Amino acid sequence: MVSSRPSSFVHRFEPGSRPERAPVLLLHGTGADENDLLPLGRTVAPGAALLSPRGKVLEGGMPRFFRRLAEGVFDEEDLRRRAAELADFIAEARVAYGLPAPVALGFSNGANIAAALLFLRPEVLAGAALIRGMVPFAEPPEAQLAGRPVLLLSGVADPILPIENARRLAAMLVAAGADVQHDVLPGGHALSQADVTRTAVWMRRFGEG
Ligand code: MLT
Repeated sequence: MVSSRPSSFVHRFEPGSRPERAPVLLLHGTGADENDLLPLGRTVAPGAALLSPRGKVLEGGMPRFFRRLAEGVFDEEDLRRRAAELADFIAEARVAYGLPAPVALGFSNGANIAAALLFLRPEVLAGAALIRGMVPFAEPPEAQLAGRPVLLLSGVADPILPIENARRLAAMLVAAGADVQHDVLPGGHALSQADVTRTAVWMRRFGEG
């Protein structure tokens, strides 16, 4: 039974056709919106319910999930506040649409707010696929990730995100107890076919079969 549609974020919701699959929370990159990752979600998690909010921060007219001071330099206070808002939206949407905890699938800025959620409000996510994710906080809060599956996909030649930063994020997630798969792919920052294939395989643990 659907109660009132959550209104704290503009979003798209696609009900799933296979209730055994965990719902997927789609978190877009800078300059995209709630429509951007729906095709990726349908491809990597066929039949899963898809919940896709639009980031509320505008940078030169481009939606994002939190403010940054420069490329790769985050406004951490804003990130904390926005991550809390997003966690509350997830909780609201779960009630409204009758969903179990979703798996996040974030690209770039979306991966970074998903990483922030893992450190701040890990209970809202069943796991997370972070495509081009980077360290969200200089001093991350202590998190208890207790075996939560996390996929981190990085590009070895990413001009925005040095590979050393991605390796540091992987190490932080491992230290917090997550079950981390970190794959370093040949490309740069853009989403590639290898990202799609690896994410689809990794997603199978959330209900295919
Ligand atoms: C960010 O600001 O989250 C990262 O620099 C990635 C980006 O959005 O370009």
